Amino acid sequence: MATPCRLLLILLGIVAVAVAAPHPAHEFCAAAAGGGGAGSCGGDGTRILIKGGTVVNAHRAEVADVYVEDGVVVAVRPNIPVGEDNVKVIDATGKYVMPGGIDPHTHLEMEFMGTVTIDDFFSGHAAALAGGTTMHIDFVIPVNGNLTAGLESYKHKAEKSAMDYGFHMAITKWNDEVSKEMEVMVKEHGINSFKFFMAYKGSLMVTDDLLLQGLQKCKSLGALAMVHAENGDAVAEGQQRMIDLGITGPEGHALSRPPVLEGEATSRAIRLAKFINTPLYVVHVMSIDAMEEIAKAKREGQRVIGEPVVSGLVLDDSWLWDPDFATASKYVMSPPIREAGHNKALQAALSSGILQLVGTDHCTFNSTQKAFGSDDFRKIPNGVNGIEERMHIIWDSMVETGKITVTDYVRVTSTECAKIFNIYPQKGAIMEGSDADIIILNPKGSFVMGAHTHHSRSNTNVYEGRKGKGMVEVTISRGRVVWEDGTLNVAAGSGRYIRTPPFGYLFDGIEKSDAAYRASLRAPVQRSKAAA
Ligand code: URP
Ligand code: ZN
Ligand code: ZN
Repeated sequence: MATPCRLLLILLGIVAVAVAAPHPAHEFCAAAAGGGGAGSCGGDGTRILIKGGTVVNAHRAEVADVYVEDGVVVAVRPNIPVGEDNVKVIDATGKYVMPGGIDPHTHLEMEFMGTVTIDDFFSGHAAALAGGTTMHIDFVIPVNGNLTAGLESYKHKAEKSAMDYGFHMAITKWNDEVSKEMEVMVKEHGINSFKFFMAYKGSLMVTDDLLLQGLQKCKSLGALAMVHAENGDAVAEGQQRMIDLGITGPEGHALSRPPVLEGEATSRAIRLAKFINTPLYVVHVMSIDAMEEIAKAKREGQRVIGEPVVSGLVLDDSWLWDPDFATASKYVMSPPIREAGHNKALQAALSSGILQLVGTDHCTFNSTQKAFGSDDFRKIPNGVNGIEERMHIIWDSMVETGKITVTDYVRVTSTECAKIFNIYPQKGAIMEGSDADIIILNPKGSFVMGAHTHHSRSNTNVYEGRKGKGMVEVTISRGRVVWEDGTLNVAAGSGRYIRTPPFGYLFDGIEKSDAAYRASLRAPVQRSKAAA
């Protein structure tokens, strides 16, 4: 039977972009391209009262009501009276009311390895919202090294956004122009983080020389340097070694870039950041080797952030040896998903604070795109899904198992990201004045994941068949209910760009440690000229 939402779409003659995906079960109500406001089905208003749930922030959990008006949290306290009629009341008794997830690491509509990721700023956002994520930060890739052209291209891609988003910027070449553009990105465009790929030789990879210049520039701008840490030269060597051995399938991907290459690059980046005395953010930490470098640096007082991704936390590399190419190739990403043992060690590091926040590296290619590498693993586009699955998998694998608390859950999925990228408490909290990005999670609910039910455009899912406890029943994005009763109510064009200001907390006191360093030099030594 046609739902009211679908009828509405038919009547208006609107083609909802995401419905083009081969998943008839999905509903995208009022996905009017270019629309800028509330959706026209779902019946939610701009005033919402969430009653009786346990409101969880990273610093405390309390039973309280949450009142939302015009996209903002207005009150958080027990027993807020229902009052006026035009308020949508949601009963959250027995459930957790938490800040929407913030995914620090995604690649929507990214041109990469000769193709383009299949989820764009609409389908990726639909998937995110259905999974309880209400904001993400995507990586702008420069056009031929040019940052401004890259930003223009991503602004265009993001016109169909359906939730809030921010940008990091990759740096792929170095000259005076790039250095000036970095300043413009920070001061005029609200970008406070730059990523340096130490891998992908011949395309995105940077040299140590560039990385040093970039770290120095980041420091001067109060921008956070991020690294993809793998030794790209050694990876190229490892790839050739596998080809010479006749190993051309997906397993060759993992074999060609072992953990030692991730550990080496992580250690190198950390040491260079120490030399410059600037904070460092290591993206997608996939191995014990990399994690231990981060742990060591932290023990020594260095400001290094480690970001594990969901795939690295819960999957292992056994899939890459699957005899079916389509199955094995789904799991090809870089750094590779490691052999069993690394995942549990990364979970422990997340529990103990060595690693601070969880991303996804959502970078999705369908089976046709993955098949580009059917004769040569080097041509399999690198990337896996996760933007829709992250919140559920972390709940199930970390909270349900007692490895982290509910407040830790909020910290690693939302608050820490907001703090690092300097947008807290607008994001990452349910406090008076915060954006009303809220999820309601039922701990008694359960989930089953797979390509037939997910909202990504991909026809595959690396979490196919995965079951677990905990269900995000409601997602509220800036005061609008966008996911409820298994139905999405998202509008293309309703997302908002969130500027990330420079000099976040990681920069506090850097000038003092610089001064201490200079004082410690006891130089230049004044020497009298020796008599001839
Ligand atoms: O395999 C991956 N990770 N693809 C996305 C690009 C990157 O390295 O982050
Ligand atoms: Zn990367
Ligand atoms: Zn990535």
